Amino acid sequence: AIERTLSIIKPDATKRNLTGKVNAKFEEAGLRIVAQKRIQLTLAQAGQFYAEHKERPFFGELTEFMVSEPVVVQVLEGEGAILKNREVMGATNPANADEGTIRKEFALSVGENSVHGSDSEAAAAREIAFFFSGLELVG
Ligand code: CMP
Repeated sequence: AIERTLSIIKPDATKRNLTGKVNAKFEEAGLRIVAQKRIQLTLAQAGQFYAEHKERPFFGELTEFMVSEPVVVQVLEGEGAILKNREVMGATNPANADEGTIRKEFALSVGENSVHGSDSEAAAAREIAFFFSGLELVG
């Protein structure tokens, strides 16, 4: 089925001017960027977005990192987009990521791992609605 998923190009990647190179990976994989904006998150917004990780030891590090530079939030659309995006990103920890994946090529560490992608249909719906209104989504 044609799906939509929420992607974030994280501060380590925006800082190194890699937005275009990351987007090329998505497009080469057949994913279409149907909405996109560069924003500066607040700590409150980052905490709300990552609320499910609140009790994790890395929560503070994660949220501080996400506000350290602007991020690019985007909606990717395509056949099986949620899983396809996860394949293009590669494993969370770049040390475990396959050749050719975004995290293998660009990520610096498990925290500074260049991209986020929704991990389920429910997460995709929630995360897209967190950043975009229906009016901003043009298939
Ligand atoms: P992401 O897909 O954005 O979802 C949660 C994030 O937490 C994850 O990517 C990682 O970047 C981050 N994360 C996971 N484990 C660690 C860790 N041990 N230290 C710092 N950040 C982590």
